[in-house]
Amino acid sequence: MRIGADYYPEHWEKERWKIDAEMMVKANIQVIRIGEFAWSLYEPTEDMYDFAWLDEALDYFNQYGIKVVLCTPSATPPKWMTDKYPDIFQDDIHGNAKVFGTRKHYCFNSDTYRQKTSVLVHKIAKRYANHPALEAWQIDNELGWSNTTRCYCDKCKKKFQMWLAEKYKTIENLNQKYGTVFWSQIYNSFEEVIIPKAGACYDTCHDTQGQNPALLLDYYRFCSDSVISFMNESVAVIKQYSEKPITTNMLDAAVNSGTGIDYFKCSEKLDFVSWDNYIEFQWGIAEAATVSRDHALLRSYKKQPFWVMEQQSGACGWSKMGPTPTPGKLRLWTYQAVANGADTVVYFRWRACPFGTEEYWHGILNHDGKPNRRYEEIAQIGQEMESLNKTLGALQPKARVAIIKSFDSEWSHSIHKHVEGFQYDRLLLAYYKPFYEMGIAVDFVTAGENLESYDIVLAPALLILNDDDKKNLEQYVEKGGKLFISFRSGIKDEYNNMRMETVPGQFVDMAGIEVHDYDPQFEKHTEVSGVFGRGRATLWCDIIEPVTAKPLGVYTEDFYSNSPCLTVNRLGKGEVYYLGCDLDDTAMKNLMKYLGEKANLPIDLYEISGVEITHATDDEKEVIFIMNHNTYPVVVAMKKPYRDLLTDLDIQDTVTLQPYGVAILE
Ligand code: GLA
Ligand code: ZN
Repeated sequence: MRIGADYYPEHWEKERWKIDAEMMVKANIQVIRIGEFAWSLYEPTEDMYDFAWLDEALDYFNQYGIKVVLCTPSATPPKWMTDKYPDIFQDDIHGNAKVFGTRKHYCFNSDTYRQKTSVLVHKIAKRYANHPALEAWQIDNELGWSNTTRCYCDKCKKKFQMWLAEKYKTIENLNQKYGTVFWSQIYNSFEEVIIPKAGACYDTCHDTQGQNPALLLDYYRFCSDSVISFMNESVAVIKQYSEKPITTNMLDAAVNSGTGIDYFKCSEKLDFVSWDNYIEFQWGIAEAATVSRDHALLRSYKKQPFWVMEQQSGACGWSKMGPTPTPGKLRLWTYQAVANGADTVVYFRWRACPFGTEEYWHGILNHDGKPNRRYEEIAQIGQEMESLNKTLGALQPKARVAIIKSFDSEWSHSIHKHVEGFQYDRLLLAYYKPFYEMGIAVDFVTAGENLESYDIVLAPALLILNDDDKKNLEQYVEKGGKLFISFRSGIKDEYNNMRMETVPGQFVDMAGIEVHDYDPQFEKHTEVSGVFGRGRATLWCDIIEPVTAKPLGVYTEDFYSNSPCLTVNRLGKGEVYYLGCDLDDTAMKNLMKYLGEKANLPIDLYEISGVEITHATDDEKEVIFIMNHNTYPVVVAMKKPYRDLLTDLDIQDTVTLQPYGVAILE
């Protein structure tokens, strides 16, 4: 484990580099990320290149043993380029071209932009492939940030039509799959197919509501594929020159989630994944459980250690700021990342900038560049890691529970939300949280991957499930797995059309139930009772009729009082649970505890609200991270004696943690 900083040598006088490098070394900052917005320095005018500034910076920091993550600068096309080639702009959902002045204003399907990017990436990769400071590459910056995955320009329209022709072969086939007979939408050729801009149902609809749902889902898939293929072009160019690992910084961010990129697919060509973690800033304050969930997602995309490429390190915002991190929080956030599987945490940014959009964005250092309490805290982390590294290798939690995350389902849910208040992301979090509170690690998986290592697989609202994945889930259960399905699962086909089968469609046999009636909870709620105690549904109620399943809970009011809301069905050596409703936090917690006990999950520490407990292993040793997210001290009771690796003290019956305190126990 180690720490780094996002650094902009081009923002500072060269005389300052010395102080920065020395302060970094003192704080044990081992890696800096450089260059993601520097196109206008690399290529100040068309085909005129200047690498002197970067040569000098890399050589300079190399003298101090500081490693570099070098970025491709495609996140910010320069002014001369947008002036000369306005076709590189992307169009927003209303069809208006974006403008120069911020960033990410380019279209992933612009041939001009792809070509310009490729030429520059060739030059950078060739020049720096063997530089001794080079440690890794980052492609672009936050692909898809700020709703930029989905572009609505004519270039995209053309490529989309080609993508459709490839997928559907004939326009008749597309018409049939899209159900274009509805509302007179039958197309005569692929050239006629539209891209779903903001709708024409002016009064009733916001953005694309009202557009054909099959078309929307395909467009979302196409846009995700476009970003990934743009990224992969740069990956392929770098690989021609360099063997150093390649990443991109993702944004599953706890606060501004949802880039519209399928991150499982996006991860395939990357050597490792990384993400940007802002917890308390202008755009919101994230709960600790949400941040933990995001780390778990990142760990899951490649099932290997990941990086935090930008970790908040000061008060931040563009026009308004969030709170300054209370003393102890930077350390807590850093170990939270490590406990959940990160091996490198890079702080954004080294020092607050005097100019530009982010002049309020505080890094480790304030504008004055002097050591401060945040710098001291980070230096402490740097020292601690140095000593932890003497006995520990790369740590990963080994999860026995998994949640299926389906990007197809996520996009389909976002197109037609079922009922006011439904949010797939929030539902997944509701399933993650009880395990988080019990100190049990959870991975995220696709329905198609090998699930054998998991005792429990949760499939909340797995709306779209193809036949191969269905078979995979069946086999998982038959061999002894516990599959847990919720309402709105298995009822749509891959084209985003309704399945003409009894609910829950793909899961009728597996779950051993039929649902002939359901009650969306619009401006109402329904009480339930079961193995989870008493609870309340506020989103959805499937009125379950067991066929081979046994009830574990019932509704206790309305015309379906006494009908099952929760069932279990035996299948081979395993079991399939079906929950027809959502539940409040307490009932959900009780239910997941019930499930955990059925699967013999070890709950070996006493749980305290706001205290995150994570078991992680380097394959030789297991350590337990105990992290206090509370504003007050806590005393955690221990069932066995341990040694705290941070203080080197023996722990007998209890461990006491200060607010935001951390213990790492062996
Ligand atoms: C991001 C970006 C950075 C910087 C920070 C602050 O997530 O990747 O370039 O803009 O946030 O806004
Ligand atoms: Zn476009």
